[in-house]
Amino acid sequence: AIEQTLSIIKPDAVGRNQIGDIYSRFENNGLRIVAAKMMQLSRKQAEQFYAEHKERPFFGELVEFMTSGPVMVQVLEGENAVAKNRELMGATMPKNAEPGTIRRDLAYDPDNPDSADNAVHGSDGVDSAKAEIAQFFAADEICPR
Ligand code: CMP
Repeated sequence: AIEQTLSIIKPDAVGRNQIGDIYSRFENNGLRIVAAKMMQLSRKQAEQFYAEHKERPFFGELVEFMTSGPVMVQVLEGENAVAKNRELMGATMPKNAEPGTIRRDLAYDPDNPDSADNAVHGSDGVDSAKAEIAQFFAADEICPR
């Protein structure tokens, strides 16, 4: 089915000038960018976005990381967009991601192999995608094609 999913290019990847590379991977693999904005997340926005992880030991670190610089937030649309985006991203930890994926190719640092700074976020299901899209975009900011 045609789906929409929320994607965030995180501060590490924005800082390395990797927006274009990541957008090319989306567009070359059947995903359309149907909404996009660059923003500096506030602590509150980051805490809300990752609320499901608030009891995790890395929550503080995650919020620090996500507010450390601008992010690029987009809605991707396409056939099986949720799973397709997750396939393009690869495993959560860059060191565990397969070569050819965004996280392995663009976020793995051999000098800091255990880092969880992983370049991108993608919704993990159709329902979470709807909620995450609604956090960042009004209906009239999305341009399905
Ligand atoms: P994301 O897909 O955005 O969803 C939750 C995020 O938590 C994940 O990517 C990582 O950026 C982060 N994360 C997961 N595990 C760890 C960890 N062990 N230490 C720090 N951050 C983590």
